[in-house]
Order: sequence, then C-alpha cells, then structure tokens
Amino acid sequence: MPDRYDLPTGFRWGAATAAYQIEGAVAEDGRGPSVWDTFAARPGVVRDGHTGAVACDHYHRYPEDIALMKDLGLDGYRFSISWPRVLPTGAGTVNPAGLAFYDRLVDALLESGITPLPTLFHWDLPQGLEDNGGWLNRDTAYRFAEYATVMADRLGDRVPAWITLNEPFVHTVFGYALGTHAPGRTLMLEALPAAHHQLLAHGLAASVLHDRGLEVMLSNNLTPVEPASASPADTAAAEAYDALHNRLFTDPVLLGHYPDLSALGVPDDLYGALHPGDTDLIHTPGLDGLGLNFYNPTRIAAPTEPGLPFDFVDIPDVPHTAFGWPVVPDALHQLLLGLRDTYGKALPPITITENGCSVTEETVPDQPRIDFMSAHLDALAQAAAEGIDIRGYYTWSLLDNFEWAEGLFSQRFGLVHVDFETQRRTPKASYAWYRDLIAAHRAQNAR
Ligand code: FCB
Repeated sequence: MPDRYDLPTGFRWGAATAAYQIEGAVAEDGRGPSVWDTFAARPGVVRDGHTGAVACDHYHRYPEDIALMKDLGLDGYRFSISWPRVLPTGAGTVNPAGLAFYDRLVDALLESGITPLPTLFHWDLPQGLEDNGGWLNRDTAYRFAEYATVMADRLGDRVPAWITLNEPFVHTVFGYALGTHAPGRTLMLEALPAAHHQLLAHGLAASVLHDRGLEVMLSNNLTPVEPASASPADTAAAEAYDALHNRLFTDPVLLGHYPDLSALGVPDDLYGALHPGDTDLIHTPGLDGLGLNFYNPTRIAAPTEPGLPFDFVDIPDVPHTAFGWPVVPDALHQLLLGLRDTYGKALPPITITENGCSVTEETVPDQPRIDFMSAHLDALAQAAAEGIDIRGYYTWSLLDNFEWAEGLFSQRFGLVHVDFETQRRTPKASYAWYRDLIAAHRAQNAR
C-alpha cells in the first residue's frame, strides 16, 4: 500500500489560515468593517460572545508566525486577504495601509522561501457591500472583480497562483440559508442567488487573473455523499444533496452548466439570478487547479419531516472529531476517484487546500490530529498511485484561531496552540510530526 512518503516528487507541503480567523486589528490602519464584525457583535450568535477583534493578533505577530512556518519547512502558505482592509467599503477608494500589510506579509514569506497562496474571499465581505444586499446582489460579483484587479496588480509580480473563493457552499448555506454564520440570513433554498453570484465573481476574477498571467484555483468544500440505505427514497435524497453540496459549485466551473436541481424544487434560473451567458463567464476562464477542502463524508436519508428533501444521519462506529465530524480517511480517496469519474479530462490538478481536525482538551499532546493527518495523507497517496494528479496539501490550520460561530476556545484546529490571553504560541506534537514528515519526504525525493 502506498503511503504518505510515496506522495510525488514536487508535492507541496503547506498550512492554511484565513484573515478574519487570525488577523485581529479590525479597526486599525483604515480597515473597514466586515460582515463578521457586525455578526459577531450580535448577542448569542458566537459561542461565549467571542469575536475576531484580536483573534491571533497575526496582523502584528506575522513575523513570529512566519518563523514557525519556516521552521516547519513549509513550501507554501495559504492565507486570505481581508477585502475590507484593502477596500474599506468594498469598492472605490483603496486603503494604502491595508495593501502595505499584504506587501509586507508576501515579502516576508518569500524571504523565508515560502510561496504565498492567497485566497481573495474567505467570508469577510465588506459591510458596505452587505448594506447593498451582499452576495444576493449581482453587483457584488463585479465589485469582486475590481478588488481582484487591485490585488493582482499589487502582488502579481510575486504571487504566481491565487484562490478566488473559499467554500462558496459553506458560505451560502451557513451565511444565507441557515443564518448561523455572517451575514445571518435564513433564506433556505432562496439563498441560491448568493451561490450563483459568488460563482460569477469567481469567473470574472479568474479572467482578471489570467489576463495577468496568474494561475487560478477555487477552493470547494466537497464531501462524498452516501445514502443511509439502498432504498430508492434514501438514494434519491443522497443524489439531491450531492447536487447541492458538490455539483452546484463544481459543474458550472468545470463543465459550463449547473446540475439538475429540480428534485429540490429549485427553478432552472436559480430564482431569477442566472442570466443568459453567465455560465460562460464562469466556465470559459478555466481553472488551473481545483482546491479541495476535505473534512468528512456525509450520510443522507430520505426526510422524516416536511421541509428539505434530505436528512443527515451520523456515520456510526468510526472516531469523531471534537466537532462531532466522522473520521473516514478512505472517503478522501473515494472522493478523488469519484471526481475523476464525474469530470474526466475536465478535472484539473488537485491541491488539498484544507484538511485537519479539532481535538478536545489538547495543549501540546494532540495524537488524534497526528492520526487524522497521517491517515488522510495515506489516502491521498493511494489516490495519487491510482493516477490522480495531486499537487499539494495545506493543513487546516497553522494556528488555533477564531472558529466562526464556535468562537476562540472550543474548536482548536492548530498545529500550534495559541493562548488567547497572552498570545503565546506553543507548537503541539502534530507540529513536530509534520515537520519531520516534510523533511523525510523531501530527503527521500532528493535521493
Ligand atoms: C472550513 C473553513 C475554515 C475552517 C474549517 C474548520 O469550512 O473554510 O475557515 O473554519 O472549516
């Protein structure tokens, strides 16, 4: 059986973070408010009333964090750019101090031999755009393309590859359908225009980046969906969920059309959002790499109550993370084979842009994280041995951070422990394990 040491030569080792989860400094140097500042300030929406106002204070401590990355031996670092730090109201006037921060960050990474991999949108929409409807407003896609232009013109000389969006599925569902994330809308399926406008934004920004000779990726949260039984009702429910979670965000980009969502009762024009020519704008620029964020598979049954046409069921008899997510590493292998079956030649090279787990009551010993990462990397090596083109792995996350609605303390995903009172960083056991793995893989491939 191939294992992680057999991952291909040139495989890129990395770690991932996101701006609102680590930067803090939300009111410094001209940054404008984001939807997450507004949302987290509402009583009762984030565990223990936490916010990202300080988070890991990475805005000030980035040199220390880059020193950790260098010590780990990372090839690449995936971070996100805070749109309201660069364009405080989302459009119009650029904030020079905001741009200067990302200049410093990129230069410091390059000086440490680490390739920057920025994500343009990881959920912190400028509040100024939300005030005009946010992603429910088609105009936001055009503002995103302008923001991409600003960033590409500033950093494109040093940053070769870019991720447009992080997990439009999760942002649409939690932010616009269920309301558990910012901006807190509860539109259920009528949230789908927000999904389409994000994909349109991706397509418009991809053109901007390609025009400047830069590579483009999209990071999707994908999950293999299995029916709870072989019954026709469970199978149909699983297919409907697969269309919504996976195909809705990947088919238009790779194939140029939306999947059939009629089983969900969704109109073909996505509640009026889909205009003629839009799927060309999304598809034609092409994708140089598919970013895959993988956490767990999903088991679906036919609904027991009226409402959505599916029910979530737990996967028993497997370990679960602190979040309660089932740990099934072979699901990653199966997912990759399934992507090849579905998309064939249209499937670009794949980079794992997130994978990791939260561990209960850890400080330094975090053996469950080592077990999680090693098993998922072995599953990746298995898929690579079966011919899937996998270019790299960015673990979520470098640091414990602000885990959205779960706040700061309850779901720690870092290789590095962060004491949020003192901002002290303490590498965990998984940090040493990852550093040794990277060094061993590199030495083996150099032979
Ligand atoms: C992903 C998000 C990331 C983090 C992990 C745990 O869905 O992209 O920001 O919250 O989950």
